[in-house]
Amino acid sequence: MQISPSILSADFANLAAELESVSNADWAHVDVMDNHFVPNLTLGLPVVEALLRVSPLPIDCHLMIADPDRWAPAYAEAGAGSVTFHVEAAADPRGLARALRSAGSRAGMALKPATPWAPYAELLPELDMVLVMTVEPGFGGQSFMADQLPKVRAVRESVRRHGGQVWIQVDGGVSASTIEACAEAGADVFVAGSAVFGPEDAAAAVEQLRALVRRHPH
Ligand code: DX5
Ligand code: ZN
Repeated sequence: MQISPSILSADFANLAAELESVSNADWAHVDVMDNHFVPNLTLGLPVVEALLRVSPLPIDCHLMIADPDRWAPAYAEAGAGSVTFHVEAAADPRGLARALRSAGSRAGMALKPATPWAPYAELLPELDMVLVMTVEPGFGGQSFMADQLPKVRAVRESVRRHGGQVWIQVDGGVSASTIEACAEAGADVFVAGSAVFGPEDAAAAVEQLRALVRRHPH
């Protein structure tokens, strides 16, 4: 059970200090948006490289970008511990996952809310993580979509059948009031932006989320 605070809700003028403030988490979730795949623009490789130099946590890159086949491997080569691309944007998800692994990172594949899991279940051997989006990607602070929980269950069932060590991440609207349902459905990596960086004490928010999911081992 791992917590990955999203710096999308952090103070972008003080990212090094913001990362220090959540050093009790497991990962730092970095949302890369290109204003093509999603209608928002955040940051790219130069900023991720700068974060890698100062982060006390491994970096969990969530690439909401067009043409990840072309752009994603550079994030792995730069040293991100985990790189997640969107399957809707990838021309060759299998080849891309292999490229990420051979560049030394974990390979993650994300699904938007309208994207079903079943057609992609056969990719599981190539993956280290499946990200089930629980909001439409693009912005922090949106409401959790409980209708994505059956997809989390379906991915968990595939992972169980496949027998590997594939993590299941949820991202979007994850908070103290929604995280237990995610854990119960089978998620084991929890991204939280506004629920961590909204409160005064971000480290305490991480600990609170961690305590809630500890009750749901699977
Ligand atoms: C949304 C991003 C999320 C976002 C989550 O597209 O992928 O990582 O930061 O923010 P909250 O936790 O506020 O929904
Ligand atoms: Zn994200």
